Amino acid sequence: MNISDSERVASVLENLKYESTPDIKEADLVVVTMCSVRQTAVDRVHGLIPKFKEIKKINKNLKTILTGCVLKKDKKIFTKNFDCVIDTKDIKKLPKILRTDLVQKVRYRVLFAPGSYLDITPKYSNKFSANMPIMTGCNNFCSYCVVPYAREKEISRPAEEIVCEIKNLIKNNYKEIWLLGQNVNSYEDVSCMCDRTHKNIVINFPKLLKIINNIPGDFWIRFTSSHPKDFSEELIRTMAKCKKYKPYLNLPLQSGDDKILKKMNRPYTAAQYKNLIKKIRKAMPDIALSTDIIVGFPGETKKQFENTAKLFKDIKFDMAYINKYSPRSGTVAEKLKNNVSKEEKNRREKVLTEILKTTALSHNKKIIGKEITVLIDSQKNNLLFGKSEQYKTVKINIQHPTLKNRHLVGKFVKVKATDALSWSLKGELINE
Ligand code: 5AD
Ligand code: SF4
Repeated sequence: MNISDSERVASVLENLKYESTPDIKEADLVVVTMCSVRQTAVDRVHGLIPKFKEIKKINKNLKTILTGCVLKKDKKIFTKNFDCVIDTKDIKKLPKILRTDLVQKVRYRVLFAPGSYLDITPKYSNKFSANMPIMTGCNNFCSYCVVPYAREKEISRPAEEIVCEIKNLIKNNYKEIWLLGQNVNSYEDVSCMCDRTHKNIVINFPKLLKIINNIPGDFWIRFTSSHPKDFSEELIRTMAKCKKYKPYLNLPLQSGDDKILKKMNRPYTAAQYKNLIKKIRKAMPDIALSTDIIVGFPGETKKQFENTAKLFKDIKFDMAYINKYSPRSGTVAEKLKNNVSKEEKNRREKVLTEILKTTALSHNKKIIGKEITVLIDSQKNNLLFGKSEQYKTVKINIQHPTLKNRHLVGKFVKVKATDALSWSLKGELINE
């Protein structure tokens, strides 16, 4: 989502004929798009402030703008240190703000006007893989999470607009479209016209997937992130049917202990999650699964963590984002005692990482000898790097000298998997 915010900012600035520079010392304007999910990300923005002050001593014209996911309490502090702090939904107002020579304070609109920022066509940072927000905000209020406060209520983009943007990308040779949202499963476009019976047509996420899958062209569809509570049977059937949807799914579990899940305000049990995974694997046997876990949630006992570790081992994930709990201001969990020590959080993270290393490797080993399709994302001398349909990193040795000069970045290639590690595969190009 953060990358997508940056792409929209870049697009607005390019329309104003601003030129981008990789070196902030050369810049007259720096726009920081931040993420508030973890305190470490917020700390990184604080860390930028002294740097800006240094540069301002040399370049007095430098203006700094902060946008993205900014919490109200942080806004107060950052307003003192940035020339301007604006909401993501107000990115469209950037030209006005810049023209008025950076007013110190910008009023925040409390209500989100649909289409006020999501309809800016972004300047995609990648030439073949696009991040496409289909919705913004979150209504779930997991007790540890700041997103519902920073991004406010869920708003879905009109399907027509999404389809139009994707068609354009496909015309421009894009090969991978990531549909983004805090909880894409609750996507709902109610702005559609009536059908012949004068009933309003509601486009939910499975319907949107079907529509995108029917767009002509050779491209992959992926999405993130999902909430288990909204993962319907209709969605599973649709994913299995849509040929362009590629078999990789991130489904955050967060905890494998029912009491912790309840305290997290995640309305499902470990057994329900396990059953959901069973259904998904039955419909798509080759799907690669990743998850998000939080270790050391307030009050999480060793026994409760063991329940997570057991489920984590049982499910055999391909990938996982293991997060150590950190209290976030304004959340319900902030009021609970953060009583799991740093050392114990580190230990729990390590336990899960060790399990993951084994399960990921066992999945990857099964791919050895198989022919897979890879979307190449970079090339360095004799090596190509890319992602498989299952979103596994693949390192490919170019052996044939004639292939060395072929420009393969942004293209699909056929590869024979020759070796497997926990976090990647090795392969050889199949000469066509
Ligand atoms: N502490 C640790 N991890 C968190 N996440 C969200 N909030 C917190 C927090 N306070 C993690 C969740 C989520 C991912 C994006 O970040 O696992 O799925
Ligand atoms: Fe945060 Fe929960 Fe919403 Fe995800 S679903 S963004 S974890 S509140």
